[in-house]
Amino acid sequence: MTAVAPRNAWYPLTWSRNVTRKLGSHRVLGSDLVVYRTEAGEPVCLDDVCPHRLAPLSMGKLRGDAVECGYHGMTFGSDGRCIRIPGQKLIPANAKVPCYPLHEKMGLVWIWPGDPDLADASLIYDLPQYNAAGWHAAHGDALRIEANYLNLADNLCDPAHVSFVHLSTLGNSASEEIPVEHIFKDKGVLVWRWIRDAAPIPLFAKYGNFRGNVDRWHYYDFAAPCSAVIDFGSADAGAIADPEDRDKGLRIFACHFITPVDDHVCIDHWLHVRNFARDPEVDERLHADFRVAFNEDKEILERIEAVERSRPDIKRIRLGIDAAPQRMRRIVERMVAEDGKSSAAQAAVSG
Ligand code: FES
Ligand SMILES: [Fe+2]
Repeated sequence: MTAVAPRNAWYPLTWSRNVTRKLGSHRVLGSDLVVYRTEAGEPVCLDDVCPHRLAPLSMGKLRGDAVECGYHGMTFGSDGRCIRIPGQKLIPANAKVPCYPLHEKMGLVWIWPGDPDLADASLIYDLPQYNAAGWHAAHGDALRIEANYLNLADNLCDPAHVSFVHLSTLGNSASEEIPVEHIFKDKGVLVWRWIRDAAPIPLFAKYGNFRGNVDRWHYYDFAAPCSAVIDFGSADAGAIADPEDRDKGLRIFACHFITPVDDHVCIDHWLHVRNFARDPEVDERLHADFRVAFNEDKEILERIEAVERSRPDIKRIRLGIDAAPQRMRRIVERMVAEDGKSSAAQAAVSG
């Protein structure tokens, strides 16, 4: 199984609300990073390693927009270049730390760990409903999962697990036998199914005022390597003739933006956008249900990770429901291979 994450991609670094005038430390793709805001409010991310004796810069101090190392005071501007060495006039040209492109969107600070020249913010997942009239967005948590991020990505290309893992919140047994459909895209997969004329799931039964049975849907839109948006909802049975008219029902976009922390840990930054009960007081009630559900995923994924580590040679069998997760992994592998080409090209240019 692939464990590598492509570098030329946007990843959620942390919630925007966490990036302040205090130095914060985060870990993405196995690298430790120091993160803060300039006086003008721009987020900054540098490697969290002083190039002198490798002290973490996050142990130092913010001086205006620069970071002063807490060991001997070397000071680095927000572009990573050294601007001061106490007791020494000459600043060597190599006195700098890597600095990463950032972009804020949907309440998150996103980081591009790869070639800065390729960092195009329009590549970050776009959910137009996030800011649209008639919709309400609510930021959730950062759920730490002791599992490789691709195992979480598998789960987020996989509506079939909902009938078994999330019976108290997101699923019920009516969907067990309904096959999933999918289409493959260049950089992702869309997997979905409709469950028609069935009892409403617990989460929607509380808000829907349904007459009886409902038609409900799940559309899992995965954009490699780390963005999964699950469009799910319900309407009175027969009320939605055209599947594209899902706005007529109760509709939620549950967004999962995954940070690969390292090979064995990821963080699920989750939020949701909905078209019903748009009162912020409902956010917490819905989030209580989501927390139950996402912790059910966490529990099973962490157990799978433990098995993978203790039995690395064990073989899996492939089922029909695995077509989308398999495709997602192929796309990620292709992105990793493309990273290699771009760094080889860079080496050729600089060499
Ligand atoms: S370790 Fe940072 S200045 Fe010495
Ligand atoms: Fe799940």
